[in-house]
Amino acid sequence: MAKIINGKEIAKQTRESLKKEVDELKRKGITPKLAVIMVGDNQASKVYIKNKSKACQEVGVEYEEHILDKNTTQKELLDLIEKLNNNKEINGILLQSPLPSHLDIQEAFQTIDYKKDVDGFHPMNVGKLALGQDTFVSCTPSGIMKLFEANDIDISGKNVVILGRSNIVGKPLVQCCLNKNATVTICHSKTKNIEETAKKADILISAIGKPNIVTENMIKQDAVVIDVGINKLETGKIVGDVDFEQASQKASYITPVPGGVGPMTVAMLLNNVVKATKQQI
Ligand code: GUN
Repeated sequence: MAKIINGKEIAKQTRESLKKEVDELKRKGITPKLAVIMVGDNQASKVYIKNKSKACQEVGVEYEEHILDKNTTQKELLDLIEKLNNNKEINGILLQSPLPSHLDIQEAFQTIDYKKDVDGFHPMNVGKLALGQDTFVSCTPSGIMKLFEANDIDISGKNVVILGRSNIVGKPLVQCCLNKNATVTICHSKTKNIEETAKKADILISAIGKPNIVTENMIKQDAVVIDVGINKLETGKIVGDVDFEQASQKASYITPVPGGVGPMTVAMLLNNVVKATKQQI
């Protein structure tokens, strides 16, 4: 029976330690501040930014929200980003994705000052990560690395298989795992024999976004299983990509959904805001 990786608890410890760092900064008269931009009224995004604002409040990071109308133009969005870039009181800028389809999200991410890019989506930060340099790392991948660390899971020399190649999770996760000397394989919609590849994984990470797509036959005995998926069933229940009941019989470690990777993403965002603030002073 797998050991459950308690992301909720590790995220709480991370926030507590960050709060101490924030208190220390405040004693010097500095309060870290995050600006969040959301365009339109995507329901999932609303939940995400609410969680982010709550977490900021908990550790004492100031938070400001810019909710733009769904018909906002690219120029209006870029102008706001420039304004926040130039505002010395703002240490971190987060543009919540997705954006309405008429907007160019890559241009918007590139417009964010890379020193305030707490999501790690700017090409400069993506490039620095690929070179193994210190940078802002996308929050979900860095949260997963923290889960490994907190559970003494050494990925060096291990076969890591990642399901999903998104810019937010899959791709930066490849770099994070490579930087820790893992042998990394990434699978996606065009990959042949995903089951066979997954079964070779010492560490299997699913970031697909389909409920119960990872079944017991894809998991090697005693593999570590990390579930990035957050899927809402018709019943309203939130589940991951992994069939948890089956997988926990075979895995050595497993993350639950909710309470696994999700809380770590928010904790690592705060970590990046504090890091950005320290670099800016
Ligand atoms: N949309 C879904 N996840 C994320 C995230 O981590 N950051 C941003 N900016 N948008 C997202």
